[in-house]
Amino acid sequence: MNLSDIVDPKILSQPVYEPGRPIDDVAREMGLDPAGIIKLASNENPLGTSPLALEAMSRALCESHLYPDGGCVHLREQLAIRHGVEPDQIVVGNGSNEVLELLGHVFLTPDDEAVMGNPAFIVYKLVTLLFGARAVEVPLKDHVHDLTAMAAAVTDRTKIVFLPCPNNPTGTINSADSVRAWIEQLPERVVVVIDEAYAEYLENETDWSRVFASGRRLVVTRTFSKIYGMAALRVGYAVTTPEIAALLQRSRQPFNVNAIAQAGALAALEDEAWVRDCREANRLGLAQLGEGLTALEIPWVESCGNFILAEVGNGADVGHRLQQRGVIIRPVGGYGLPNWARISVGSEQENIRLLAELRTVLGK
Ligand SMILES: Cc1ncc(COP(=O)(O)O)c(C=O)c1O
Repeated sequence: MNLSDIVDPKILSQPVYEPGRPIDDVAREMGLDPAGIIKLASNENPLGTSPLALEAMSRALCESHLYPDGGCVHLREQLAIRHGVEPDQIVVGNGSNEVLELLGHVFLTPDDEAVMGNPAFIVYKLVTLLFGARAVEVPLKDHVHDLTAMAAAVTDRTKIVFLPCPNNPTGTINSADSVRAWIEQLPERVVVVIDEAYAEYLENETDWSRVFASGRRLVVTRTFSKIYGMAALRVGYAVTTPEIAALLQRSRQPFNVNAIAQAGALAALEDEAWVRDCREANRLGLAQLGEGLTALEIPWVESCGNFILAEVGNGADVGHRLQQRGVIIRPVGGYGLPNWARISVGSEQENIRLLAELRTVLGK
C-alpha cells in the first residue's frame, strides 16, 4: 500500500505556502556574500526589533527551562487594555497565522464555504482548504476588495468571510465606514475576520467597538511580526467576542506561544516611541519607493502597508535577476499576478539599492 493511500486526500491536494527566500539560501545559490544581500520579500521591519522587546527577551532567555504561561495571562491583560476589551476577548497565537488556523479548527468542515478576495493573503485559502471547506474567491476591483461582490458571494454554507485591512499583496484598504456598513449587511450567522496585520502602519486605527457592541461575530487579528519587528518570535492575536475566544482557546495547543515571545510582546507594547518612529520611517520609505518606481515608469499601487505592489514585467524573471544581484523581492505569480512583484519597504539605503538594481535589470 502506498503512503498516499492512507493519507487524508485533502492533504495531498493542499497547496504549499511559499515564503520569501532566506538570505542564506540565496547567497548559497548565487555564490554571493550574505552580508551584501538585502531581503525585501517578507514585509519585515527594516529597522529591526523594538529595543525594549530585545532587552526583555534576553532576560526571558535565562528562564528557558520553564514552560511558558500557557494562558498568556499578562499579555492578554495588556492587549485587552490596549484594545478597550476584556482579557477573555483576546486569544494569542503562534503568529496571527496560527489564529487563522484556529478559526479553521473551530468553524470549517467539508460542508462549509469561506469567502475571501483574490488576490488576498494566501493563508485564508490555505486554511480553508486544509479543513476541506470551499474557498470562494471574489476578484478585487482595481486592486481593492469588492465588498458588494463579497457580500453577494455569501451563501447558506458560508461560515467565515475574510477581509484584510490593509490587504497583502496589494496594500490597499477599504474605508472603515464602508467595512462597518458592509458587516451590518452580512447575515449575523457569519464570522467576519478582519486581518489587521499592518494596522499599526495606518495613521488612524479602526474602532471596532460599535461592531462588537452590536453582538456581531467579529474576529480582528493582529501581529507582532510587522511594526514590532518580531517576525521570528511568532506572536499574533485575535480580538473577538468572549464566546468565540473560548472556542479558539479550546482548539489551541497548551503552550502555543513561547515565553521569550510573550516577554518580548509585553515589552514591545510599551514601546510607543518605536511604533511612532517605524510608522514615520515607513511613510518616508513608501514615498521613496513610489517616486523611484514612477521615475522608472513602473506602475505601482498606492499602499497602506509596509510594502508596495509594482508591475515590473515578468515578476519571476525580474525577481530571479535581482536575486543574482543580491536583492530579494517577492514575485506574485502565485497570486495570479505574473507581471507584478511585491517589494517590502527597506531602510533608505536598501530602497536606493533596490531601485538602482531594478534599473539595471530592466535596462532602463
Ligand atoms: C495580511 C497578513 N496577515 C497575516 C500575516 C501573518 O503574520 P504572522 O507573522 O503573525 O503569522 C501576514 C504576514 O505576512 C499578512 O501579510
